Amino acid sequence: MSDFAVYEAFRPRDYLQSYYGELKSEAEGLLRFLVESFAALPGGVSVLEFGGGPTLIGMIPAARRAGKIHFCDYVKENRQVIDHWLVGDESDFDWSPFIARCLELEGVRSPGREEIAARAERIRDAVTRVTTCDIYQSPPVAAKDQFDVIVTNYCLDAVTNDKDEWYAHIRNVKSLLRPGGLFIMSSLEEGKYSDFGETRYPNVYLVEEDIPAALRACGFDEPSIRVARADADHGDREYRGVLFGSATTAI
Ligand SMILES: C[S@@+](CC[C@H](N)C(=O)[O-])C[C@H]1O[C@@H](n2cnc3c(N)ncnc32)[C@H](O)[C@@H]1O
Repeated sequence: MSDFAVYEAFRPRDYLQSYYGELKSEAEGLLRFLVESFAALPGGVSVLEFGGGPTLIGMIPAARRAGKIHFCDYVKENRQVIDHWLVGDESDFDWSPFIARCLELEGVRSPGREEIAARAERIRDAVTRVTTCDIYQSPPVAAKDQFDVIVTNYCLDAVTNDKDEWYAHIRNVKSLLRPGGLFIMSSLEEGKYSDFGETRYPNVYLVEEDIPAALRACGFDEPSIRVARADADHGDREYRGVLFGSATTAI
């Protein structure tokens, strides 16, 4: 028997409170990495947000360029939180500070209510599907076409302790990316597990060099590989920081 919780027991509100209760170094680092990634893309791209959990964080910067976004997550309660937000019910969580910070990173000075509302509407317009997914299936999500961009944050590393399995997960998600498409992922740095509420989930133990090594080994184009990191938000986190990596596939 594993000591870890099953994802079916995932509590979206505990998770949001623990990891997104404050906008500190981890969310700042992720937003910055995503803003830089999307800045270089043309408008109208198709985006897959894989394992988005109960969060909007990946879609906020993505919506600047996305023609359409397919959001997927394994846990039904997470998808329900997203569905609520998409129909205008923002009572589960207030994403406006994250939208404001994203807009600032994009160069908007002191974004106000209207600009924040406009980005929220942009996300609502862009999301065309909210579906389940399972990284242990192939393909891991049912989709008619491949995507221009795939964003997957703290998901592929958060379902296993095994590095070979993590590699297999990257390859599996990559099968959904069109030739020349952009893959973006985030992972915990030096974390063997993550805790929140009453639950503990496994994590594959990674150091910064593991990110470019994995992208290379999984067949991404070497010169396109980009890596960044940020410190953990709190001294009592069970990991040292967070790692971000992106790369494109060969055309
Ligand atoms: C640590 S959360 C990350 C959530 C979000 N992407 C974020 O940035 O905060 C891990 C996510 O992995 C998802 N997950 C669990 N098992 C999965 C599976 N078999 N296939 C795909 N995703 C899975 C969970 O539902 C959860 O949303």
